Amino acid sequence: MTDRKATVLIAGATGYLGRHLVQAYHRAGYRVHALARHPEKLIDLDDQIDRVIFGEATRANALGEVFDGVDLIVSALGITRQQDGLGYDAVDYQANKNLLDAAVRARVEHFAYIHVLHAEAMAHVPMAAAKTRFAKALAEAPIGSTIICPSGFYTDLAELLDMARKGRIFLFGDGEARMSPMDGADLASACVGATRDRISRIHIGGPQSLSQNEIAQKAFEALGLPPRITHIPLGLARFLLDCGKKLGWSQQLGPMEFFLAASQIDMTAPAHGSITLAEDFARRADGKTT
Ligand SMILES: NC(=O)c1ccc[n+]([C@@H]2O[C@H](COP(=O)([O-])OP(=O)(O)OC[C@H]3O[C@@H](n4cnc5c(N)ncnc54)[C@H](OP(=O)(O)O)[C@@H]3O)[C@@H](O)[C@H]2O)c1
Repeated sequence: MTDRKATVLIAGATGYLGRHLVQAYHRAGYRVHALARHPEKLIDLDDQIDRVIFGEATRANALGEVFDGVDLIVSALGITRQQDGLGYDAVDYQANKNLLDAAVRARVEHFAYIHVLHAEAMAHVPMAAAKTRFAKALAEAPIGSTIICPSGFYTDLAELLDMARKGRIFLFGDGEARMSPMDGADLASACVGATRDRISRIHIGGPQSLSQNEIAQKAFEALGLPPRITHIPLGLARFLLDCGKKLGWSQQLGPMEFFLAASQIDMTAPAHGSITLAEDFARRADGKTT
C-alpha cells in the first residue's frame, strides 16, 4: 500500500453497527466510503464520510463504480428486523455475495464480514444458514478476508428492557445460557484492529459473560423495578415457533428463531471493549438509544 490514506467501504453503513464502523474507521485515519440505499440516514455522520454511494447491494448490476479506489470492504449488511419482503438468502447471502463478486472483479485487497458467533451450530436457523453460506464463499474467494463472529449486541437486548418496562421478562429455557453481549462502538474498534492485523477469523465478545437471567436482572435494576422473569420451556417455545411458521410468519419470527437457538448454546466469546451492559441499559432507561 502507498502512503496515501487507505480507503474503506462500509456496506450496511446505515445500520446500528455500520454507523459505529463509520466512526471507528474515520477515527483510525481511513478515508470512509459508505454504501447505502437510504443515504439520508447518514446525514449526521457527514463530517466523517468522504463519499456516500447510493447502491442496492441486492441487485448485482447496480454496483458499477462502487469499488473505485477502495482497499478494504467491511460489510455489516444483513437483516435484523427489516421487513421489506426480502429473506435472509436474498440479503445476508446474496447481497453480500454480489458485493464480494464485484470486489474480486475490481481487485479490492481485503473484505471483512460481520458474521455471527457459532452460526455453524445453528444451521437449522435460516439467518445463521444464510450467513454461514456467505462466510464460506468469502473464505474461499480469491481475496483477503476477515470473518468477524460477535456474540449479541446490546441493541438487541433493549427488547428485554422494553419487556421489563411492561413488568415481566420472558426467557427461553432455564435462562442459564450465557453470552458476551457488547456495545457497537467496542465491536467497531475491535473490527478496525482485526482488519488492520489481517486476522482471518475472530470471535469477539463484550467485557462480561452473562447468563440470560443475569441480563434480565440488569434490565429490571436499570429501571428500578422488582425482577419478574418467566421461563418458557424450550419444547413449548419450539411448538409456538412451528405454529407461527405454519401460519406464514417465518420472516417476522426470524429473530425469535435465532434467539431460541442461541439460548441453547454457550455464546460466550473472548472479551473485548469496556462498555458494560449496565451502562447501556442505564443510558436506554434515560431515553438515550445510541
Ligand atoms: N444484532 C445482533 O445482536 C447481532 C449479533 C451478531 C451479528 N450480527 C450481524 O451484524 C450485522 C449488523 O447488525 P446490525 O444490528 O447493525 O443490523 P441493522 O442495524 O439492522 O443494520 C443492517 C444494515 O443492513 C442494511 N440492509 C438490510 N436489508 C437490506 C437490503 N435488502 N438491501 C440493502 N441493505 C440492506 C440496512 O440498510 P437500511 O438502513 O437501508 O435498512 C442496514 O444498513 C448483521 O449482519 C447482523 O446479522 C448482529
